Amino acid sequence: MPLTRKAYRAAILHSIADPAEVGIEASYEYFEDGLLVVDNGQISALGHASELLPTLPADIDVTHYQDALITPGFIDTHIHLPQTGMVGAYGEQLLDWLNTYTFPCESQFADKAHADEVADIFIKELLRNGTTTALVFGSVHPQSVNSFFEAARQLDLRMIAGKVMMDRNAPDYLTDTAESSYVESKALIERWHGKGRLHYAVTPRFAPTSTPEQLTLAGQLLSEFPDLYMQTHISENLKEIEWVKELFPERKGYLDVYDHYQLLGERSVFAHGVHLCDDECARLAETGSAISFCPTSNFFLGSGLFNLPMAEKHKLNVGIGTDVGGGTSFSLLQTLNEAYKVMQLQGARLSPFKSLYLATLGGARALRLEEKIGTLQPGTDADFLVLDYNATPLLGYRLKQANNIAETLFVLMTLGDDRTVLQTYAAGNLVHQR
Ligand code: GUN
Ligand code: ZN
Repeated sequence: MPLTRKAYRAAILHSIADPAEVGIEASYEYFEDGLLVVDNGQISALGHASELLPTLPADIDVTHYQDALITPGFIDTHIHLPQTGMVGAYGEQLLDWLNTYTFPCESQFADKAHADEVADIFIKELLRNGTTTALVFGSVHPQSVNSFFEAARQLDLRMIAGKVMMDRNAPDYLTDTAESSYVESKALIERWHGKGRLHYAVTPRFAPTSTPEQLTLAGQLLSEFPDLYMQTHISENLKEIEWVKELFPERKGYLDVYDHYQLLGERSVFAHGVHLCDDECARLAETGSAISFCPTSNFFLGSGLFNLPMAEKHKLNVGIGTDVGGGTSFSLLQTLNEAYKVMQLQGARLSPFKSLYLATLGGARALRLEEKIGTLQPGTDADFLVLDYNATPLLGYRLKQANNIAETLFVLMTLGDDRTVLQTYAAGNLVHQR
């Protein structure tokens, strides 16, 4: 096969470590006039244009961007495909919101044509917003995952998804059984897990909608196949937490339910964790589990403020999630804008470099994919973005007043959204052009 080599010249920024561990200055690399070289879908070199260009053949294909920033593709560690059509549903908090809006909306995925249509809209929306990898909840119907993976495979995206397992406390039209959820999940795993850049996540919705039998079988699936993911929700809402205590009185608390059924581990991602206690954070850290911090959702559903400093204290893996449709935006830039306010309301700071980390390398670490995605290190997948400093008149004007990359980055995360994403590349292919 002929080598396809391309180079991209612009300002280039990526996270290389967690600012909480190494300090801000050592957490990133910035090249004011940088060059990113891509060979056959992988990054082969990164550096200053002045140093790298002389080492390359004179006829190399270089795309040069002015007033733009290249970053790694964003990683959304929690999002619901079948909730694309219900973003912005009025008035309820979690449990009523699920019954009033979510379950009826998800029921439409019984129809494969509907699943295909929404999967297409959903993937386009991810890419328009610069999200190149997402950890995705399907609906209870296997076809929600088939439609999604079929579309993701065509674009050679790195994506993780699973069919929801839910065998109680939901309408009959939307429940499976412990046995059918096991059989259907297993068939999806055999069909998709490890195919191209796709991975499967065992997906019990949350403790209240699974019987002990179903949670047992979820744990069994994890033990039967290597490198499977597990995704669920935890401690998002106070009424939800009370309900879990009623349903599982023999367990110490919410996390202990999942722990008992062997659902914690290095590829387990728990969405929200707004009301986790110290001991639960310690146990999550000890098992290598991760939390997906979903600020727009936590505001929209009135769930509460995630305590990132507590998670950092425990060295817990944290990624950022949109949680569409509880969340209100596909844009991780807008999600970081809200994350900043979550910290402000708790008297804490969120530096723009920590935000960049959360949306890239931090997400990759939460998903144990940091050798593949989340940075622009040579040898990783060429999943990257070109962000446009002049995406809107206000952004262009505001960025002219910025004095350094820290300020530029922070303003991009405050004023930026889908319009800011000029191009999205996945495995070296252009998959979105504004
Ligand atoms: N808890 C259980 N299901 C859901 C869901 O669909 N969205 C959110 N935000 N929380 C949940
Ligand atoms: Zn969710």
